[in-house]
This record gives sequence, C-alpha cells and structure tokens, in this order.
Amino acid sequence: MSKAGKGNRAAADIDLYLPAPLSHPLSAGHRGLELLPPVVYQKTLCGWSFSTGWVCCAGSLWGQLHASSACVRTKAGTWILVQTPWPPPSGMLAEPFNWHPGMWNMLIVAMCLALLGCLQAQELQGHVSIILLGATGDLAKKYLWQGLFQLYLDEAGRGHSFSFHGAALTAPKQGQELMAKALESLSCPKDMAPSHCAEHKDQFLQLSQYRQLKTAEDYQALNKDIKAQLQHAGLREAGRIFYFSVPPFAYEDIARNINSSCRPGPGAWLRVVLEKPFGHDHFSAQQLATELGTFFQEEEMYRVDHYLGKQAVAQILPFRDQNRKALDGLWNRHHVERVEIIMKETVDAEGRTSFYEEYGVIRDVLQNHLTEVLTLVAMELPHNVSSAEAVLRHKLQVFQALRGLQRGSAIVGQYQSYSEQVRRELQKPDSFHSLTPTFAAVLVHIDNLRWEGVPFILMSGKALDERVGYARILFKNQACCVQSEKHWAAAQSQCLPRQLVFHIGHGDLGSPAVLVSRNLFRPSLPSSWKEMEGPPGLRLFGSPLSDYYAYSPVQERDAHSVLLSHIFHGRKDFFITTENLLASWDFWTPLLESLAHKAPRLYPGGAENGRLLDFEFSSGRLFFSQQQPEQLVPGPGPAPMPSDFQVLRAKYRESPLVSAWSEELISKLANDIEATAVRAVRRFGQFHLALSGGSSPVALFQQLATAHYGFPWAHTHLWLVDERCVPLSDPESNFQGLQAHLLQHVRIPYYNIHPMPVHLQQRLCAEEDQGAQIYAREISALVANSSFDLVLLGMGADGHTASLFPQSPTGLDGEQLVVLTTSPSQPHRRMSLSLPLINRAKKVAVLVMGRMKREITTLVSRVGHEPKKWPISGVLPHSGQLVWYMDYDAFLG
Ligand code: BG6
Repeated sequence: MSKAGKGNRAAADIDLYLPAPLSHPLSAGHRGLELLPPVVYQKTLCGWSFSTGWVCCAGSLWGQLHASSACVRTKAGTWILVQTPWPPPSGMLAEPFNWHPGMWNMLIVAMCLALLGCLQAQELQGHVSIILLGATGDLAKKYLWQGLFQLYLDEAGRGHSFSFHGAALTAPKQGQELMAKALESLSCPKDMAPSHCAEHKDQFLQLSQYRQLKTAEDYQALNKDIKAQLQHAGLREAGRIFYFSVPPFAYEDIARNINSSCRPGPGAWLRVVLEKPFGHDHFSAQQLATELGTFFQEEEMYRVDHYLGKQAVAQILPFRDQNRKALDGLWNRHHVERVEIIMKETVDAEGRTSFYEEYGVIRDVLQNHLTEVLTLVAMELPHNVSSAEAVLRHKLQVFQALRGLQRGSAIVGQYQSYSEQVRRELQKPDSFHSLTPTFAAVLVHIDNLRWEGVPFILMSGKALDERVGYARILFKNQACCVQSEKHWAAAQSQCLPRQLVFHIGHGDLGSPAVLVSRNLFRPSLPSSWKEMEGPPGLRLFGSPLSDYYAYSPVQERDAHSVLLSHIFHGRKDFFITTENLLASWDFWTPLLESLAHKAPRLYPGGAENGRLLDFEFSSGRLFFSQQQPEQLVPGPGPAPMPSDFQVLRAKYRESPLVSAWSEELISKLANDIEATAVRAVRRFGQFHLALSGGSSPVALFQQLATAHYGFPWAHTHLWLVDERCVPLSDPESNFQGLQAHLLQHVRIPYYNIHPMPVHLQQRLCAEEDQGAQIYAREISALVANSSFDLVLLGMGADGHTASLFPQSPTGLDGEQLVVLTTSPSQPHRRMSLSLPLINRAKKVAVLVMGRMKREITTLVSRVGHEPKKWPISGVLPHSGQLVWYMDYDAFLG
C-alpha cells in the first residue's frame, strides 16, 4: 500500500513515489512520457491530473497516486508530476519505491525529462482565465457553472492552469453569496468516487471568485489582478474567455471595456462567447454584428447555438462521414422522401413573455436551432469534417441554395392562455391580443441538385403534448415485396419504413440517440456511442425500437458543457459566424415580415390540442389539415386580415388593377400568365414573355416553377426586360435570379432562352460592342412585329421601371428598341428594353409589392404622362392591355 494512501496527507516524510510494478516503462525516449507543469493552486506549486485521479502539491500529496504516475520532489523542494500513458491497473495505488540497483539511473533520466517537459509544457499551455459575466443568472446557475466545472475536470490534468471569475453588476458581498448558491449544486461524473468529487469541487471553488464588473475601473482592476496573479506564480498566459451570459443590451458596454482594458498580452488569445438573441431580423443582426466587429475580431467571437452542442446534433457530420459508403448513394433527392426537424416543448412562455413577445417561436427556435440542424443534414460533406473552415463554407452554401419562403410556406399557432400571460406580465390592457406565434411549421426547399424537390419540414412549439427533439430523414420506399407481410424481417424487408433519426433528446426514448432502420445498413459510430436498449414494446416513428440499430452516448453531456470545451479548444465550427448568422436572417426575415399581421391559430395546449395543429403540405405550401375552428378569443384590432379580403378588382391609372395579399396576388398573376401563354401558343404556336429581375418577381417565378404543370414551357421564349452590366453568372445578374428560381426547374428549350448580351468581348456593356443593337435584332428576328405577348414590369420607389430611370437620356422615347442606361444605385450600368418597345406589347403586367412602394403608388396614381419624371407613367401599350398587380401592402399601406 502506498504511503500516500487516500485523501490528504502530510508529506514531510515523502521524497519520492514511483508506481509499482517496477517494470513500468518510465524511461528516456519513451514516446508517451507526458509531464504536467507546476501550476498555482492555493498559492503553492502543484501538479495534478484528474484523468488519472491524483494531485500533488508542494508539501502535501492529495488523492490517489496511480501506477501510471509519479510524484517527484525536485531539489528545490518543488513537487512535480510525471505521468506516462501506460494504463494503470484499475484500483492500483502507488507503492513506496523499493530501492533497486539500476533504478537510480532510470530515475535521474525521468527527473531530467520531467523538468524539461515541465518547462516545455508550461511554455506550450499556460494559464487560462475564464470570466463569466452574468455569473448569478439563470443560465449560469443551470448550465454554465456546471460546464466550467466539467471543463476544469477535463482540462486541468492536461497542463493548463485556470482561474474562474464570476462577474455581475451586483455588489461584492451579495454577489458572492448568490454565486456561492449557484455553485452549490455542482456535480461530478457518475463514475467518480465521492471522495474525489468532493476534492475536485473544493479545488474548483477555491479557484472561483466573484467580482463586481460594473465600471470601466472594475475591468481595469480585473486585468491588473489577472496579470499580478500570473506574475506572482510565474505563469505564461494562454488566453482569456469572457462568457457573456447577459442580455444583448449590455453587450456594447462590456465589449468596449474588454477591448479597452482586458485584452491579454501578446501571444495569448481572447475569446468572447455570446448567447442569443443575435438580433431580431436581418437589419438588427447586421447592426449588432457591426457594433461587435468594432471591438472584436471575427475569430475572437464565439456565438453560441446550444443545439450545436447537443450530442445527437454534434454527431450528424461525424456520422455522415463515418458512414459515407452506405450514405453516399442514399443522401439525395432520389432516395429521401422528406426531412423533419422538430423541437416540441410542453412548457409555455410564462415568466418569459417580455422576451417571447418580441421574438416568437420562429425567431426563438427555427431561425437558429432548427436551421443549424438543417444545414448539418443538407450540406455537402467536406472531405475533412473536422476542418472548421470547410464546415463553415459548406454551411454557407446551403444558405445560398435555400429557396425563398413565402407566406404560404408557414403555418402559425398560439396557445390560448398566451395573450392573457402577456397582459398580466407586461401590464397590457384587457383588449390586448398578441399575434406572436408560439407554434410554427415551415416548409423549406433547397434548390440544388442534391435536394431539389425534397421537403424539409421545420416545426416547433410551446405547450404541446410532449417534449422531444429530432431530425428525421425518411427514405423513399420504392420496393414491392411479394411475400406476405408476416414474413417481412426487419433487417431485410425493403417494404418496411426506412429512416435515420438523430434523436436530440427527451421523448419516449428519454436520451440522445441515433436510430437507423435495420433494413438500411448497420451504421458505424465512434466508441463514445454504445448500442442501446429501450423499454420493451417501445415504438418510435411508426416502428418498434427493435427495428432500428439504436445508439446512445456512453456518457450523456450537457450541450453547454460540450460547447465550453469547444470554446476552450478554439473549434469555431461549433459556433455561428457573422456570415452564417446574417445568411440565416436573410432567409427568415422576409417570412417574418409577411407573417407580422397574420393571426395565429389558437390551441388549448398539451394533449387537448388533439389534431388541431396537424398539417399537410403540397405545391410548396403548408396548411392545417383541419378547417379553422372558431377562435376562442377575438382576433386583433383593426388591422385587416387576409380573410377579410377577396381579390380586389378596381382601376389604377385607368387600367385594370388586381389587388390582394401578396400570396394570393402572386397566385393570381401566375394563373393569368399561364392563361395568356396557353392562348398565345394555341393561336401562334409560341409565347414570347419578357421578364423583369429584382426581388418582387422571385415569388412569381417560384410559383410558376412549382405549381404550373400545364404551362407550355416548350413553346415559350423567355426574354429579359433589363439586365445589370455584370457577368451572367454574377449573383447580381437578373438572369441569375431567373435561372435560380425558374429556369432550373422547368423544361424550356435552351434556344428559347434569350439573356441580354451585356458581356461581350470580355467586357461589360461597352457601346462599341453593340450589345443593345444585337438584342434588338434578335427580338426583331424572332418576335412578330417586336410585339411581346407579355411584358412583366416592376415599379421602383423613384418611379423607374425596367432599367429606365427618371431623366434617362435614352429609352424613354425614340426609335431604339434596346438601350444602355445608368442607374442611381449599383451596379450603375444597365441594359433595358425601351418604353417604345414595351408599349408595343400585347399585354403589360406591372407587379408592385411591399410597404416600401406605398408612397410611389399613391404618387403615380395622381400623375399624368410624365415619363421623364416617372418612367412608369410612360407605360401605355399602344394596342395592348396594361394590368396592375399590387399587393395590399403597396396599395393600402
Ligand atoms: C432556447 C429557447 O434557445 O431553447 C427556449 O430560447 C427553448 O425557448 C430552449 O425552450 C429549448 O432548449 P432545450 O435544450 O431545452 O431543448
């Protein structure tokens, strides 16, 4: 038995412990000899290794000494730690060294290596200060202190030393008490002996101090203290982590103080950790990002989405990587029926309505957690899934391929007591009814070759019947089984459901898991996952659990603790970069705006929801399966609701006007275009359609691409109304928009597609290249009388149409059919059909959408024919028809 035994022990009589057996490979040149540097602990020099379960300090020996470790006292009286990777026989304690001829040499070599390694390790690793801002708040109490404790247990034994500074605005005495409370419930891994646990907790508490961080001086003092501590202990600084567990309004002040007085010295890193919300929409997210960007470099910012730390989510890429061979042929539109990314909760928003009322479920969960999961499922798999750079790049490519959402892509609901909770918590009047959704389902499409046509359903809600989260990939079943069902075997029958589920947590399974239908393939998972058995008789996703290969983590870990470890190791791929964040808001903001006035369906909550929230999808839209029941509380005040309006027909500038909510309007316009196309093809054998670019027609293109199977595309010629002088492959190009949202989804003969020749002789829109004249000749050659069957125009906020801007010297009159023009906004150079050519068309449709167009709509309704001032006012087909299509936002405001 070791002299050290268990627990603390005075070590006055101990000079040296070496592990038994004596054949231990502690010798020069042994590859794995690893030395842990002395670190400050209770103001003494110590080395420790929690992985092997021992600590030694100057003057005392703590804990057990395992066979793979040695605690050595140097001549100077410093205790150092020598550890080899030789696995310790379990339960074996160090034995006092038996002096043995020849062992002295070995010991001297070991000591030298120890000292050398000690210096190197210290040089390489150093001291890390972690400052937890908001140390007494909810998140800190629930997850962050525990995560920091786990980090300490994992990392302290690997050569780093730590100090933890809990910080808040609260005065020191009270703050200390609150923090002590938050630290009371720290727990150790299940397999750690209680005595060890108590020791480690004790050590962690000693390293954790509260401090008030309120003023600039407080931050300066913090910096001074860290430096003094390092100097006193002779430690090199490795880095500082500032964890912002505070509301976003506090970010700016804190960021400024850190930047101006708490940056570590040269050679040490700074990492600031930010918790959502990261803005409210694209604009506010951009503002916040710009603000933070003035204080921190991109690589210093770690934006947390805690779903990326959930074990099943973190397993998506490694799983796809490890099972490449089996998945390669399956992970695409030919085999995947649909993907469901779901987060259901039983809790409601009570107590949090001041936050929730501003955000709602789409901002709270879909924009971040569920979108992140979607990108991991959908991204092209990088060759190296551990390359943060590659993962982040591939994620961004998913965002670029997401098809824009329309109002009809989503359904929303709200649990019945929500408005009442808001009234109570936010002191709103009795008449107040909230429109904030607490439930939403959204149908997402990814327009790339892998996923085209595969529905991705994102759904989340509060006050539902169960708490569960998962990403479920359901494969198509293209098999016919001849034998009767009773002979179907789970592992073989291709007729049973085939699915792969990343089970994030909770639900009937009660833990994170990866489930793979046995008739798909036997998956390979890392050793940190084990095969699991669920309760007998358990059925999941329509099949008994026994029909799946089911795996769960050997050790369950909380998401924040996983992410703290990634922050510590600088794994940026587990965090949200600014580009990623803005791409996500770019995708969600238009939908959020279009839903702003939509009344959510009310639901009672819990099991009583019955089938009320069930939904279906087809033709790019989602809808509730059941008819809208009577609302149990009245709808919101005077704002017009979609159901209050039918498509409105009236006159605008003495031409027919069609007005509706944007979704109905687009659908009506698409129908009208199809009808015109069918008539033209019937009469003339072809249909010549000239389309505008920009954002308004995107929804129209998508509608035509997804819901108009009778469209005579094979006989349709597509022309451009205008183009920007950029290469056709440029994302700014109107042709690119047409390509992305329409052309790639329909079958148009390529010789019927007529992009504008803005790029000739390797240059853009040079007069000498005569691109405008070439296009005009092409039109004259192919379009009878140069009279298009239909021209689709938009109207700019300054009254421009096509690329004909106010005061344009070309294109507003004269002989030219196609002209080069100049736009006030970038890219300035444009090519455009001229007004005289537009006015030769058989039909001109002007599409105007969005509140931004409200003013110009009113203005143009009153002006006469003044194309120099407002080019749109010059649109008046000579013998054709002009129809205005305006949504209510543009028309009614
Ligand atoms: C948070 C949301 O981000 O995630 C909460 O703000 C939600 O509204 C929570 O309850 C769910 O997280 P988890 O880890 O419990 O699934």
